[in-house]
Amino acid sequence: MQCSFKQVGNTPLIKLNVLKPDEGASIWLKVESGNPTGSYKDRMAISVIGEAIRKGNLTLSQTVVEYTGGSTGSALAFACACLGIKFTAIFSDAFSHSKQLAMEAFGAEVIVVPSYGKGISPELIKKMKELAHEKVDKINGFYADQFGSKDVVLGYQPMGLEIAQQIEDKVDLLCASVGTGGALMGALEGLHKKDEFPKVIAFEPSQSPLLTQGFGGSHQVEGVGVGFYPPFLDSKRVNQFYAVDQVEAFEMRKVLAQKHGIFCGTSTGMNVVGAIKLAREMSPKQNIVTFGCDSGLKYL
Ligand SMILES: Cc1ncc(COP(=O)(O)O)c(C=O)c1O
Repeated sequence: MQCSFKQVGNTPLIKLNVLKPDEGASIWLKVESGNPTGSYKDRMAISVIGEAIRKGNLTLSQTVVEYTGGSTGSALAFACACLGIKFTAIFSDAFSHSKQLAMEAFGAEVIVVPSYGKGISPELIKKMKELAHEKVDKINGFYADQFGSKDVVLGYQPMGLEIAQQIEDKVDLLCASVGTGGALMGALEGLHKKDEFPKVIAFEPSQSPLLTQGFGGSHQVEGVGVGFYPPFLDSKRVNQFYAVDQVEAFEMRKVLAQKHGIFCGTSTGMNVVGAIKLAREMSPKQNIVTFGCDSGLKYL
């Protein structure tokens, strides 16, 4: 596939110095901010676009369409730009304007659905989805399908392969906050390919405890806690769901930036808060891996 795709992946795995050596398991962070759009979403975007072309479902003259809050949209805009394919994002002013600018920088057409100051609501998402389908039908476009395409999970497998190679030890626990669940399941599949079978724990904001208590709520952790069961999350492969307070996640973002030089988004803060709690219940000989999902530069 296109050589610009080589910018994606091979990210560092960093051992976090957040606990004393005898306090619990080692915590490793797969820091994904070095990807072209500053997010691990680039992995799924090159997989979805690359596989669609390989399977003959997408031609270079078609337009890719997706409804998006901007992170997946930026990644798809990047992947399409690598191949000179047109991309249309159905977006809304309820999401960060910088994400719109990033999509446009990669040459995407961005259609903004007004939210009339009502924020991110189920009605808005429904409208964006409908518009995306209408657009696909009208222009005979290709719907990227970030919540349904099998190639999303496939795209994250290399993350697991890289972790297995980098850690040079056993991975006892893989844990992460989930939106679609694609990153967690894909990385797990990659680890399985390297004969690593860690325990798996999925995090969600305690302000929207759908997985742990059965009801959603409003929260401020972008990309996770989507208000419905994560479509790619295989419950048979998850050992436990665990809720993490978003206030602690925001605080951890600051700590990671100011005391560790790791500038990340709030979902990463949530991952590290959860990992620390779980590490304390584990032996110092064990290893926990979690994800640094994206760069804090996206949230300035
Ligand atoms: C910043 C951020 N963190 C975490 C996630 C969750 O990733 P996944 O959808 O693979 O579960 C997303 C997904 O949109 C995200 O944008």
